[in-house]
Amino acid sequence: MVKQYSIAVLPGDGIGPEVIAEAERTLLAVGERCGIEFTLRRFPIGAAGVAAAGDPFPAETRAAVGRADAVLLGAVGDPSLDQAPRHLKPESGLLALRAQLGVYANLRPVTVFPALVDRSPLKADRLEGVDVLIVRELTGGLYYGEPRGREGAAAVNTLRYTVAEIKRVARVAFESARQRRGHVTSVDKANVLEVSQLWRETVTRVGQDYPDVRLDHLYVDTAAMRLVADPRAFDVLLTENMFGDILSDEAAVLVGSLGLLPSASLGEGPGLFEPIHGSAPDIAGRDFANPIGAIATVALLLRHGLGLPEPAAAVERAIESALEQGARTRDIAAPEATALGTREMGARIAGLIAQEQRSRASVAG
Ligand code: IPM
Ligand code: MN
Repeated sequence: MVKQYSIAVLPGDGIGPEVIAEAERTLLAVGERCGIEFTLRRFPIGAAGVAAAGDPFPAETRAAVGRADAVLLGAVGDPSLDQAPRHLKPESGLLALRAQLGVYANLRPVTVFPALVDRSPLKADRLEGVDVLIVRELTGGLYYGEPRGREGAAAVNTLRYTVAEIKRVARVAFESARQRRGHVTSVDKANVLEVSQLWRETVTRVGQDYPDVRLDHLYVDTAAMRLVADPRAFDVLLTENMFGDILSDEAAVLVGSLGLLPSASLGEGPGLFEPIHGSAPDIAGRDFANPIGAIATVALLLRHGLGLPEPAAAVERAIESALEQGARTRDIAAPEATALGTREMGARIAGLIAQEQRSRASVAG
């Protein structure tokens, strides 16, 4: 029997629809190769949700994501809504989606592609072998804390974490480290913040259940510096929500472009899978965007969302081969080199997935 999965696809705003079209192409190619049927249904979110239904997280989308096997998202954000009230902001739609799915653990793997070492402003000898997994807490902290709001000439946000929230994301970090190089670096600001003191104590306590995993702690300022000065020092980097947002954009510099990085957000129900880049309105609709972040996100969806490691690896191999063959979108092309458009890059990668099918089939006879 053919395996069937239903994926809720939320293209969102800006370059979201363009990169998501290539992610869909990838899913269909890998489905073909591995004998899996994907049903892809699209729903609006962000500014697209406001345009379609007056809500950045419309009821129709809300209902659909809970029923799906996994949720694939492009990006949200639109400058025309920058001054809108909070309930109409595209970002509020994304935060409501994350909260509804309860996806408290956001995994952001950062691996340097050997073919792109010269695209990073960092020295090549620092980059070889860089392989960091950022585990970012995603449904707590400053993004959600109450009270919040504007108060005349002042404004307030609240940083609050409970022991239970810290424990569950810490477990994800330690379990991940066991599958990797057995090292967790927990990031905080425990020299200043009470929340960070609780974070450090709680992570330390959880770490006692993982005597095989080495745990160390860094203040966030030091972590930010070390991430570019000595990125190989990191295996799993565990952080709260806002620090993780900042450090993951910084980590993208190691890889050469924000457009390359995927993420997986996991909780108890269906997972949420999105590239880490934003909606990039300045290049939207021009076939410039790099679809590799979205395509690599498909690999995470297959591995973590559906438990399909082999198809996931096939997608990752195809990305690597395309880069080794010199395929480059604008963001990762050398200054004088010709660049591929979003669609052509997606087509190349899908072609490599299909090719792999043929060569494997012929080996099997
Ligand atoms: C990300 C983005 C989001 C975040 C924004 C769009 C709300 O920057 O996924 O990193 O801050 O979480
Ligand atoms: Mn971010």
